[in-house]
Amino acid sequence: MLRRALLALLPLAGSVLGQTATQFIDGETGWQFTGITDPVHQVTYGLTFPPLASSGPQSTEFIGEFVAPIANKWVGFAIGGAMLQNPLIVAWPNENEIVASTRIANMYSVPTELDGPILTTLPSSHVNATHWKFVFRCQGCTSWTGGGIDVTSGAALAWAISTVGVDDPSNPQSTFQEHTDFGFFGMDFSTAHTSNYASYLSGATGTTPPPSSPSGPTSTKPTPTGPTVAATPFDYIVVGGGPGGIVTADRLSEAGKKVLLIERGGPSTGETGGGYTAPWTEGTNLTKFDVPGLFETMFSDPNPYWWCKDITVFAGCLLGGGTSINGALYWIPNDRDFSQASGFPLSWGNHQPFTNKLKARLPSTDHPSTDGKRYLEESFDVVAQLLKGQGYSEITINDNPDSKDHVFGHSAFDFLDGKRGGPVASYLRTAKGRKNFSYLDYTLVTNVVRNGSTIVGVQTNDTRIGGDGIIPLNPKGRVVLSAGSFGSARILFQSGIGPSDMIDLVKADPVAGPKLPPPSQFINLPVGMNVMDNPSINLVFTHPSVDAYENWADVWASPRAADAAQYLKDQSGVFAGSSPKLNFWRAYSGSDGITRIAQGTVRPGAASINTTLPYNASNIFTITMYLSTGLTSRGRVGIDAALRAKPLVNPWFADPTDKVVLLRALNDVVSNMKDITGMTMITPDRQMTIEQYVDAYDPGTMNSNHWVASNRIAADAQHGVVDENTKVFGTDNLFIVDASIIPSLPTGNPQGMLMSVAEQASSKILALAGGP
Ligand SMILES: Cc1cc2nc3c(=O)[nH]c(=O)nc-3n(C[C@H](O)[C@H](O)[C@H](O)COP(=O)(O)OP(=O)(O)OC[C@H]3O[C@@H](n4cnc5c(N)ncnc54)[C@H](O)[C@@H]3O)c2cc1C
Ligand SMILES: *[C@@H]1O[C@H](CO)[C@@H](O)[C@H](O)[C@H]1NC(C)=O
Ligand SMILES: *[C@@H]1O[C@H](CO)[C@@H](O)[C@H](O)[C@H]1NC(C)=O
Ligand SMILES: *[C@@H]1O[C@H](CO)[C@@H](O)[C@H](O)[C@H]1NC(C)=O
Ligand SMILES: *[C@@H]1O[C@H](CO)[C@@H](O)[C@H](O)[C@H]1NC(C)=O
Ligand SMILES: *[C@@H]1O[C@H](CO)[C@@H](O)[C@H](O)[C@H]1NC(C)=O
Ligand SMILES: *[C@@H]1O[C@H](CO)[C@@H](O)[C@H](O)[C@H]1NC(C)=O
Ligand SMILES: *[C@@H]1O[C@H](CO)[C@@H](O)[C@H](O)[C@H]1NC(C)=O
Repeated sequence: MLRRALLALLPLAGSVLGQTATQFIDGETGWQFTGITDPVHQVTYGLTFPPLASSGPQSTEFIGEFVAPIANKWVGFAIGGAMLQNPLIVAWPNENEIVASTRIANMYSVPTELDGPILTTLPSSHVNATHWKFVFRCQGCTSWTGGGIDVTSGAALAWAISTVGVDDPSNPQSTFQEHTDFGFFGMDFSTAHTSNYASYLSGATGTTPPPSSPSGPTSTKPTPTGPTVAATPFDYIVVGGGPGGIVTADRLSEAGKKVLLIERGGPSTGETGGGYTAPWTEGTNLTKFDVPGLFETMFSDPNPYWWCKDITVFAGCLLGGGTSINGALYWIPNDRDFSQASGFPLSWGNHQPFTNKLKARLPSTDHPSTDGKRYLEESFDVVAQLLKGQGYSEITINDNPDSKDHVFGHSAFDFLDGKRGGPVASYLRTAKGRKNFSYLDYTLVTNVVRNGSTIVGVQTNDTRIGGDGIIPLNPKGRVVLSAGSFGSARILFQSGIGPSDMIDLVKADPVAGPKLPPPSQFINLPVGMNVMDNPSINLVFTHPSVDAYENWADVWASPRAADAAQYLKDQSGVFAGSSPKLNFWRAYSGSDGITRIAQGTVRPGAASINTTLPYNASNIFTITMYLSTGLTSRGRVGIDAALRAKPLVNPWFADPTDKVVLLRALNDVVSNMKDITGMTMITPDRQMTIEQYVDAYDPGTMNSNHWVASNRIAADAQHGVVDENTKVFGTDNLFIVDASIIPSLPTGNPQGMLMSVAEQASSKILALAGGP
């Protein structure tokens, strides 16, 4: 929901890695490395370490190489696997030389010089007509302030490339623009040592590779070892423990079905076994995922292990999915959200019984502190005054879900008892209490196992299960995909379902390709097409009354003491809420006759400021303007050759009318600003009009993380991926229940509407004949 620099997307460690490093011999030097060749850009990254010491400290150096086709203008490599607060080695060709430096990145800025490591270019580095190759020794490179790698075990590593050259190629400290792509891989350092290390350094050639062997690494994955566990069949296998999957698994198990919920990530809140606490909540069960006031730290953590590493936009890969890491804005859906105009089949129009079930299980609150009081309300007060001047009226938003024109109110959330609540603290609790409900975490589903149109099970990455990782279905059993707008689309591609260009990428992958069904069983559906996300634009202001709360920068390590103590005592105060304080909506009719609704979200602080004006950072606040219902722009999501899920065609402003309407909304919201004494807009500043500001806006930062419709519900297989029972066209027993089936964006942030969709979908699935 908030604008972020993409650099923050470059986190890491642990969880989900597209590739695993393997050993290879460099064809030119004969040196043995461990590494990968990224299949999209064809850049090879290799490392080799000195022999392990049998006693005493390990050596702190290694030899590395990057071999890059010249289209890669610079290459970066993060030793610790996170782009933030980790050493980076950045290199590029300059005429016939390689220019390189070690860097360190802090939030949202170009990585700066890092003193300490000694980087030496080795003689086999070269530049030719097609490639550049950087072979280097890095000394003092295995530990750094605040971290390090253990050369006796495994870790995650990250790479970044750019197709845009650096600003000053002859200068090793040159600035450059943000990477154009990045990725992660896992590496077992314990097997990446060579007894020839010293002779490599003295210039010796290594082992001569057999002529047939490829000079880059192959991408076979190691087979996990361990005892084989029996694969139990289930009535329903639900893939993905986000809001869609949790609500569905709860309702299916409530009906007496034997249900397995599979989640690729691990625990989130304290209740689920999570233990990631802030220094000031240590010794309690109040984790980062429990304390609402820690929301903004999701984007500034040096080790944000919860983001999916194989999806290039923000997506939560942990129990609760997006609802464990999001701002928790929670809107009860309205009639228009489920209308035929919004793309729903007629049979979905009567959403009220399902929305009522949702409200009963998961109430909303616009005063989440346990003492019933509201905190940090100054930005609310300023913007309320502004909006009243534009004819808006104040309402309790979720008491009036159909009222979305010229209204504003206090932001509403699905926090419970002053903590992150959501589906994890409601639906999942009841599911877990049932004997027929099973839960498997840290387990990745790659594809469904098909016999023609029938799904017989799911393929997991845990080959100990049944010996090959397949979890079967009972006779008449069903699979429900709830892996999110990117995740479910990828599982379909890997199951032979979707456009042929996507299936071709799967075919070419040495691990996923052989798992595809025979081509005669491929199902051509518009998977990934028609995706939507709200375009959003931030305006940043100051007002002397506003408390910017240090822009949320201190809440993790050095919170205001009284606020921390108050929260620890009884989950009340500032920390019982996330950053948003006020929401508003206004309807616009576009030149194309379509009514579009603009939404605003107000919060103290700002994600990014660009201004020539002097300002007091203690007083900043943001109005984010989104376009929601009625939005017409659509894009496409899919995968690349590394099977990373990503937007292929950006959805924002694909239809120029959307841009015109959002511009009107932005201009309107500041139209009477002069009436509010002391209110100043600092971004955009006076050097720029709002039009110029929007024209210059980086499309990637227009992302609201509200992706829907990549597997939209539709009347037929030409227009969508699932039918009115949420069953995938052309299959007998494959269903999807997550944000991807929503045909177009609802009137606000989507999680509330999505959970009503999941209530209705699980009811329709249970009612559909032929099931278990
Ligand atoms: C940073 C951010 C802020 C947001 N803020 C808000 C907000 O304030 N209000 C709001 O309404 N919405 C917000 N959203 C959007 C909201 O969180 C999503 O719309 C919602 O979570 C989508 O739910 P889902 O069930 O479709 O998928 P997800 O929530 O993405 O859940 C998918 C789950 O499936 C798991 N999974 C994926 N692939 C596999 C696989 N192959 N095998 C096994 N498991 C798998 C994932 O780990 C995850 O747990 C925000 C989203 C983000 C990213
Ligand atoms: C399967 O994938 C998950 C998520 O990436 C990971 O945590 C887990 O360790 C993997 N399991 C195996 C057996 O490789
Ligand atoms: C250019 O360098 C690359 C990488 O070292 C190598 O694979 C390739 O053979 C070289 N090309 C020529 C023409 O020497
Ligand atoms: C558990 O599931 C099995 C298989 O569907 C079913 O026969 C049994 O009745 C269920 N038990 C309960 C307590 O729901
Ligand atoms: C944390 O939660 C666990 C599981 O619910 C519970 O056993 C434990 O007592 C809790 N610890 C604290 C300090 O509250
Ligand atoms: C696949 O389905 C066909 C009928 O549709 C059936 O005859 C066959 O036995 C099935 N194969 C397997 C391996 O289950
Ligand atoms: C900035 O704002 C803070 C909080 O309102 C105030 O205490 C401080 O004096 C202001 N600083 C300046 C230079 O005006
Ligand atoms: C910052 O603002 C200036 C004008 O004040 C503009 O020229 C520049 O493009 C802006 N930069 C970004 C990244 O928006």
